[in-house]
Parts: sequence; C-alpha cells; structure tokens
Amino acid sequence: MAQLWGGRFTKEPDQLVWNFNASISYDQKLYRQDIEGSMAHVKMLGRQGILTEDESGQILEQLGIILKQIEDGTLEISQTYEDIHSFVEATLIERLGDTGKKLHTGRSRNDQVALDMRMYVRMEVAQTDGLLKTLLETILSVMKEHTDTVMPGFTHLQKAQPVTLAHHMGAYFEMFKRDRLRMRGIYDRMNYCPLGSGALAGTTYPLDREFTARELGFFGPALNSMDGVSDRDYILEFLSALSTVMMHLSRLGEEIIIWNSNEYQFVELDDAYSTGSSIMPQKKNPDIAELVRGKTGRVYGALISLLTTMKGLPLAYNKDMQEDKELTFDAIDTVKGCLALFNGMLATIKFRTDQMRESAAQGFTNATDAADYLVNHGVPFRDAHSIVGELVLYCLERNVSIEELTLEELKKISPVFEEDIYEAVSMETCVNKRLTTGAPGKKAMEHVIGIEEEYLAASDVIMVHYPVSAG
Ligand code: ARG
Repeated sequence: MAQLWGGRFTKEPDQLVWNFNASISYDQKLYRQDIEGSMAHVKMLGRQGILTEDESGQILEQLGIILKQIEDGTLEISQTYEDIHSFVEATLIERLGDTGKKLHTGRSRNDQVALDMRMYVRMEVAQTDGLLKTLLETILSVMKEHTDTVMPGFTHLQKAQPVTLAHHMGAYFEMFKRDRLRMRGIYDRMNYCPLGSGALAGTTYPLDREFTARELGFFGPALNSMDGVSDRDYILEFLSALSTVMMHLSRLGEEIIIWNSNEYQFVELDDAYSTGSSIMPQKKNPDIAELVRGKTGRVYGALISLLTTMKGLPLAYNKDMQEDKELTFDAIDTVKGCLALFNGMLATIKFRTDQMRESAAQGFTNATDAADYLVNHGVPFRDAHSIVGELVLYCLERNVSIEELTLEELKKISPVFEEDIYEAVSMETCVNKRLTTGAPGKKAMEHVIGIEEEYLAASDVIMVHYPVSAG
C-alpha cells in the first residue's frame, strides 16, 4: 500500500478496503494524459511564480523522463499504488525529493482525473472518427463498383422492390457518416479543460487556466469548477455514439450473415475473415459478423451502466465516478476492434452478383412497376393494384414470374397490357427509372456518389495536436 494521504490517519487501510478502492489496475491506461497534464500544470506554476523557474524546470524534465521510460518499458507501473496519479507523483518525489513534492500545488486528484479522462476520451473520439472514415471509403468503393448490381430490396425481410447493391450499401454510408458527425459534435462540446477546478472550488493560487488549457489543446477552461470536476456528459455522449455505431455495424453484420447463408448466397466471405467448424468440414461461418452483433450488447451495457452511476450523484466529485473507466475503456476497445475488422471483412468480401440478380427477378419485386404501367395507361392506381394482385396470384399458381407470362395471358387479366410491358417490368427498368434523389436508379446513384466523394475528400479526421505533447 502506497498512498498520498496518510497524514490524518492512525491506521493503514484494511487490505480489502485498499483493494476495493484502488484503481491503478485500469487507470494506468491514463499514464500519458496524466503526465502531460502535470507537465502543463507545472509549466504554468513556474510562469506564474508559484514555483521557481528552476523547480518547475526540474519537474518538467523529470516528468518527460518518466513518460519516456514508461513508454519504452524501462519504468514499470507499480501496482502497489492506489492509482496512476499516485504512482507518477511518488516516482517524481523518489527522484527529485522535496522539489517533486511541489507538483501537486494548486491541484486535486479530482481535477486531475477529470482532465486525464477527458484527454483520453478526446483522443479516442478522434481515432474512432478516423476508423469511421476508413470504413466509409471502403463502403464508397463498393458503391462505385456496384451501381449496376441489381438485388432485391426488402421490407419485413420480404422481397419488396429491386434496388442495387450500391444503393443498399449507400444506406450504410449515410449511417456511418452521421456517426462521424456525432464524433465531431462530441469533440466540439467536450473540449474544455477542467484543470484548475481544484477539488471543487478552484484554488487561491493565481493559476493561469487559459494557459494550461491552451497547452493541452483545449478551446479554453471549463467555466464552473464544480462542473469541471464532476461532468461526465462527454463520456455518456461518446458511449451513446459508440452504441449507435455498434447498432449500425450489427445491422450490417446481420445482413451479411443472411447474405452468407446457404439459402441466399449473395456473398462469399474471404477465408481470412471466416472460420470453420470443429465437426462439420463443409462449414465456413460468418463469426466476425456474429461477434460484432454480439458485442453490441456490452457497449450498450457501458452506456446504461454509466448513466445509472451518474444519476444520483450530488455535486461535486464522488468516488462513484471512478466507475466511469473500466466499462468505457472496454467499450472503446470493442468498437475500435469491430470497426477495423468490419472494414477488412467488407474490403475482401465477394459479392455474388448473379445470385443477387436472380433473387431480385423472383418474388415479384416488379409488381409495383406493373401497377405503375397500368396507371400510365389510364387505369386508376387502386384498380391497377388489384389487377396486379390477381396477376401475382395467377403466377404463384403456375410458379412463374410476371415477365414469363405470354401477352395473351396478361391481356386476359387486363386488356391494357401491350408488348412494352416486358420492358417496363424488366429489372433494369425497375431500378433505373427510379431517379428521384436518393433512389437506386443509376443516374441518381452516381449523383449521390459524387456528393459523398466530395464529402470524404473535404472532411478531415479530427486531429488533436497540442504544445505539451509535441515536447
Ligand atoms: N481514482 C479516482 C477516480 O478515478 C481518482 C480521483 C480520486 N479523488 C478522490 N477524491 N478520491 O475517480
């Protein structure tokens, strides 16, 4: 047990209490943010004359060494400390003696941990944005290749109307694009610096909070110190956005599982992105898509867990907030892993365009177009709907599709049908006549692809550069 706060105690904490309270096993992930935050703080203490230039210089240099040594493995983070903050400070004191003891002047672990976590999450928001952008690039390349690939569009998992693979994937493009917009919005709202909030009520030292905020790449300091130490909204927003990313991945995962089934055979997964069965030699399973679908639950879990943790907390800091870390770290690692894997799976998947087309041709996906044909020849839509319903029944009884009927058969059901009905209900016509913005027709699709290409070229990934990290 190595704690920073023994003074007012007459006993060591009970071992079980120590274990229960300690967070170093997981908050050690924050070592970089913790050290960088301390560097900005001590630099400011020197500039403000709260420490001498010499003291602040020594501490700054030693913090830099500690960071390097942790990174290159020569300094191991000792698990005997309560948390990462204690470990870094104790190491500094071990090396600098009394000078090291001055680091924590005008600071509390409450604003320190609030800062560390904010910087960590900010970095992860940026990385998630980058992974989403990569996924969007992969989706767009599938779209560009498949504007002619006709496939059935579904509602209720029943064949509805023909679309194209470009159109289907384009829907996911929009979803992941919105996910990126959410990342940007979260970044814009969260990027204010809690350092200098102290334990809850600021401090009597003349801290320059604008300076530390700038050093650490924030837009400015958080404007209320009680909120500064106890705001976890940005984590909740991030977990909510990550949950939505997982929901999107899971939906696409579900489609891939269906498309990969023996009944559909719309896709063939690359061998590198599928797995076998230990007993059934013929099997090639979509485990990645299934795992992504499965892991969605734990990301939702993190969101609900933290919402529940926060809901009863009076201002300001409460130890409950330590629970913001483990599940958040797990959720972040899970989503980043899923995004990277999904991208690889999608980039290598083989689309069986022949199967897709054939499937679209069966199942009366052109029934609406047959009705529209009648409408265009003067039949009121409600009557046309009923005539085509009859037509479908006739086809079902004979196990044929609409275009397989002879004109004579068609005319028996409605004399309005002429030779040009065959062209009107061909898959190509059904798709390519749908030219409203956002529809699957090739021209409409190409227009949207152009817009998305421009969007991707213009939308930079969130970048977090700040003076302290630059050294
Ligand atoms: N491990 C703590 C956390 O994650 C650090 C802050 C401790 N502050 C305190 N007053 N005990 O929240």
